[in-house]
Amino acid sequence: MEKNIKANMRKSIHGEWSSKLIFIFAATGSAVGLGNIWKFPWMTGENGGGAFVLIYIVSVLLIALPIMIAEVFIGRHGKQNPVASLNYLSNESSSFDITEIDNRLNRVTTRKQKYSNSDDYTNWQLVGWMGMLAGVLILSFYSVIAGWTMSYIIKAGSGVFTGIDLESSKQVFNNLVADPYLLLFWHSLFMLLTCYIVSMGVKGGLEKAVKILIPGLFLILIGLGIYVTTLPGFVDGLHYMFVPDMDKITPDVILSAMGMAFFSLSIGMGSLMIYGAYLSDKSSITEVTTIVAFADTFVAILAGVIIFPIVFTYNLDPSSAGPGLIFQTLPIAFGAMTGGQLLSTLFFLLLFFAAITSAISLIEPAISYMIEKYSKSRLESTVIIGLFTWFLGIGTILSFNYGADIKFLNLNFFDLLDTFTSKIMLPLGGLLMAIFTGYIVKVAIVKNELKLKDFIFSFWYKLLRYIAPVAVTLIFINGFI
Ligand code: TRP
Repeated sequence: MEKNIKANMRKSIHGEWSSKLIFIFAATGSAVGLGNIWKFPWMTGENGGGAFVLIYIVSVLLIALPIMIAEVFIGRHGKQNPVASLNYLSNESSSFDITEIDNRLNRVTTRKQKYSNSDDYTNWQLVGWMGMLAGVLILSFYSVIAGWTMSYIIKAGSGVFTGIDLESSKQVFNNLVADPYLLLFWHSLFMLLTCYIVSMGVKGGLEKAVKILIPGLFLILIGLGIYVTTLPGFVDGLHYMFVPDMDKITPDVILSAMGMAFFSLSIGMGSLMIYGAYLSDKSSITEVTTIVAFADTFVAILAGVIIFPIVFTYNLDPSSAGPGLIFQTLPIAFGAMTGGQLLSTLFFLLLFFAAITSAISLIEPAISYMIEKYSKSRLESTVIIGLFTWFLGIGTILSFNYGADIKFLNLNFFDLLDTFTSKIMLPLGGLLMAIFTGYIVKVAIVKNELKLKDFIFSFWYKLLRYIAPVAVTLIFINGFI
């Protein structure tokens, strides 16, 4: 009993979200980012269009969403950094009740026997470690791409895109990525801003930002979505995205789509686990995660619906543009419309904000770990992790110019980081979280935390125990053979 009271009173030392809505905004802020708008269209183009989109959606529903619920559950129950939360929960689950006869009182008593201490080392904390590492690796290239976005705010604002054609648009992009010093400048600025917000703490820094930015981004995307219906390539664009060509489905396409689902929903590395740690016990985990998953998928699909009509209107090849896709296509559309200068400036500004709210969640697990484990100040922790991430980003910068030909397994540094994190670390992290929640944690603890109707619980629990882990494993095995 005493333990229960304590468990109910436990709170994260970093504070709690002010409301359920704020959590939804913050988690949507984490999920919606460059992944949806920059990476999803590029991946869709590279992996054959509709077939990729179809597998992506199926992965979100059957694999990613069930794991997302598990990830937020682990965080909210543990209420600490991902490493400590996993550890806490695994120790808690290995405690058991013992029944004994109390000789003095001559009656049978049952008491909770602690098998181990809540902070004894367990191997499950390695999942947290892998997640923190993945977050830092992802942020190192994420920040470079966010830097492109920042430089595009200035370009858009100064009218560079007015009336621009495809050739010049490609030229603008190529000039940017050919200049490592310029990229370094923007990357550094983005890292600095991210670290500044993170150092202010979750409530102070993040809450204020997400409240305005997320709705703003939604509005402008919907506006763009309406605009592209007027383009001659609109129908071709939709056809490309929504009519799957089944011949294009290969094991690698499936692996890419699943990895994209993990990346886009921010799962598999602890972002949502740490956000869950700041979620009040009163809020329903399944409700909030489902809202976030739908919002995120909506934005990704909408981004595709915006990009591909432009691609087909200007006869671009969707499969060969690579990571430059949106930076080469969107300016043409903006350049051709009235009010395009203002709108494009606003668009890249909002994309930058979407990126920064995601970046924060990539670094927060590592920061909270440093604070809790080594009792460092938030500022000091941010500086240490931030500097390391910044430094790693230089590798990505160089892979777009001087280092483009330095390859390992036929991938340059950026491709290697991206592939390794999205196709290996995130799915593996998610797989382990599913196994952990589905098989290691006691059902009673999970039930108590989720408070679901029985049939919904057992539906989710089946997805988590059987469908998700088997699917991830099979996709892994096939993708790598
Ligand atoms: N989901 C974000 C995007 O789509 C990026 C991101 C934030 C992320 N946190 C994450 C990706 C954790 C993977 C894991 O841009």
